[in-house]
Amino acid sequence: MAIKFIKVYDYALHGSEPQANNTLRTIDIEGKRICLAHINQKFYATDDKCPHAGARLGAGFCDEAGMIVCPVHRYKYNPITGKGANQQGDFIATYPVQEKQDGVYVGIEKKWWQF
Ligand code: FES
Repeated sequence: MAIKFIKVYDYALHGSEPQANNTLRTIDIEGKRICLAHINQKFYATDDKCPHAGARLGAGFCDEAGMIVCPVHRYKYNPITGKGANQQGDFIATYPVQEKQDGVYVGIEKKWWQF
């Protein structure tokens, strides 16, 4: 499937640290809500919707182990694999991230940007 990388942070516009370390944020990429995590100085992108009951993961937080923690019932998700920590079968989709000299890019499948 074709992937298009969308620039979500431009260092020239947003500064060299556009999102504080160990924080989550919800961003909108062409109508798709993404949870953008900055954990241990590295960016990760996942679905923003918690599979448990639909909370916005970008409103959550990172724990000391580097997991994404849902703000509502505290389910945890691995930002690299998307796998839930304790709940069998729970997972969130993950998206490729590229950190380049000029900014941070998130890769989205073609179906989200072709029309
Ligand atoms: S809505 Fe996320 S853990 Fe319940």
